[in-house]
Amino acid sequence: MAFTIAIDGPAAAGKGTISRAVAAHFGFAHLDTGLLYRAVGRKMLEGTDPTEAALALVPEDLQTEGLRTADVGIAASRVAVIPEVRAALLDFQRAFARRDGGAVLDGRDIGTVICPEAEAKLFVTASAEVRARRRFEELVAGGAETDYQTVLNDTRERDHRDATRADAPLKPAEDAVMIDTSKMDIDAAVAAAIAAIVSRGATAGEGTA
Ligand code: C5P
Repeated sequence: MAFTIAIDGPAAAGKGTISRAVAAHFGFAHLDTGLLYRAVGRKMLEGTDPTEAALALVPEDLQTEGLRTADVGIAASRVAVIPEVRAALLDFQRAFARRDGGAVLDGRDIGTVICPEAEAKLFVTASAEVRARRRFEELVAGGAETDYQTVLNDTRERDHRDATRADAPLKPAEDAVMIDTSKMDIDAAVAAAIAAIVSRGATAGEGTA
């Protein structure tokens, strides 16, 4: 049985936490597609041509340490504007989406480009200030030295690049359920996501992942 849950939205809106909770709830496999772009961005920072890096990417590259840093996030959004990079990552994501047992993919273009036929689509968002505050607290907790204003500027820069690129820009699919987490705690956001997915026909625990 294939059942795809597409969860899109900007950085630090709560997509990752919601996706993991939803995958555990339904027993589905989960792919954080941002990691694919981060792995390519990281290789670009090390001097590899981004398209070659994307063509040569293997699943083990997603386990590399240090993919979640702010610098790698910015590099990821740079390589993500290159159509050849996006094309190279397409088949892997599509195969994952239609795997047996159900799949949750989170990213920017899952419901619009990677899997327009997804059974359930969510668009998770929050104000840039709320997202920057969350990301800032995460970075500081992880030992990074930064300040809120820098993180807010990075967030806006990344939003702008993601929303204005020609190929697969960040935007909600027409049939996506919108969840604004600006004023929600994580439990409320997960509950809203699960309710929306159940209304599209998924049953808890039906996956085999
Ligand atoms: O979600 P995350 O912050 O890890 O994504 C890093 C960058 O990768 C995003 O800013 C975006 O430019 C790119 N990305 C994308 N399409 C996806 C997932 C991520 O373009 N499906």
